[in-house]
Amino acid sequence: MAAEFLNLPLSAADPQMARVLAAEEERQAHTLELIASENHVSRAVREAAGSVFTNKYAEGYPSKRYYGGCINMDAVEDAARERACRLFGAEHANVQPHSGSQANTAVLMATLRPGDTILSMDLAHGGHLTHGLKVNFSGALFNIVHYGVDRQTERVDMAEVRRLAREHRPRLIIAGFSAYSRRLDFDAFAEIAREVGAKLMADIAHVAGLVAAGLYPTSIGRADFTTTTTHKTLRGPRGGMILCNSADAALVDKWIFPGTQGGPLMHIVLAKAVAFGEALRPEFKEYQRATLDNARALAEALTARRYRLVSGGTDNHLMLLDLRSVHPDLTGKQAEAWLEQAGVIVNKNMIPFDERKPTLTSGLRLGTPALTTRGMNAQSMVRVAALIDEALASAGDEAVLSRVRGAVRELCGQYPLPH
Ligand SMILES: Cc1ncc(COP(=O)(O)O)c(C=O)c1O
Repeated sequence: MAAEFLNLPLSAADPQMARVLAAEEERQAHTLELIASENHVSRAVREAAGSVFTNKYAEGYPSKRYYGGCINMDAVEDAARERACRLFGAEHANVQPHSGSQANTAVLMATLRPGDTILSMDLAHGGHLTHGLKVNFSGALFNIVHYGVDRQTERVDMAEVRRLAREHRPRLIIAGFSAYSRRLDFDAFAEIAREVGAKLMADIAHVAGLVAAGLYPTSIGRADFTTTTTHKTLRGPRGGMILCNSADAALVDKWIFPGTQGGPLMHIVLAKAVAFGEALRPEFKEYQRATLDNARALAEALTARRYRLVSGGTDNHLMLLDLRSVHPDLTGKQAEAWLEQAGVIVNKNMIPFDERKPTLTSGLRLGTPALTTRGMNAQSMVRVAALIDEALASAGDEAVLSRVRGAVRELCGQYPLPH
């Protein structure tokens, strides 16, 4: 007879972990989530991610599996791939990467040999670890050359990218970012890659939802490989994906499995299929438009309160706030901690040419995808900016932070999460 605990709800089976889960639900419901890479998924996506699909091994690809019993796995992975292709206008999708980093790993392994040169955005100017940080596999295995943003405009300067590409003749150019508030010119990147004989990888992890909605330039048809996460603006489960032309499909698939991964997380592939289905609905475009409107509204409200934003504003869902403009002695680390006390969740972030260390920083990265999911609008952003300003000006005064915390709770109460 099976052990009885197998049938118990979490609250009875493991009260300790159930309490932490309840505390996290409570935290998410009553704080303002401004981390640009986070979102709140729908009930359907959560249901899929918590389903019995977690039980199944499905190494391989639909109708080419290394395990029996994959009939439903094949149906779901086929649907996820088809929906992803329709959503982005791509010829092929690999939906198995466990994360954005795994997607990038597979493309780097597919296109490079150890010692080859990559040209990518500097992490300190908005790039990502997997684009060549020394302590990441990408920086350990490959020769990295970085482009950054121009000191004056704080935007990527394509003439500089071209100059570096001509000088260093990279085998791979990466166009993508974790903390850049402007549009990237994928056409110009593609032209430069063609000129120097490099492959182009676009990492659209942050802006994938905006791209799918047609509100941010697409890399499809420009880049050889497009990688993304599925959990940021795209509002799916935590995970990654690679999009490419049919001609490169076998190469990409081979470098995910068996190249860099084992069995896919099929419960997550199911949740990706559900999320892509949601993204194909007309309401998704409305949501992405509201995310952009809210980012612009938040940027304007912060600017009105004298905060300087890197490059002067935003064209996407995120912005970088330069703390030095209003509080010269306040580090990103301290600001993040005060804001958390006040119920406003952000992350400290380097600003371009930052003189402080990555563990301190002079900036904060703010994004609107999560607040927009709970239905907040431009007016709410004015209120959010006021609350941020009050917390940052508190000098850590507990009474002030607690007052802001109360106001945050009240605001959150008006905009419940998907449940
Ligand atoms: C541009 C970019 N690429 C890749 C990743 C990696 O995604 P993951 O954290 O799922 O590995 C991120 C995540 O922050 C990102 O911003």
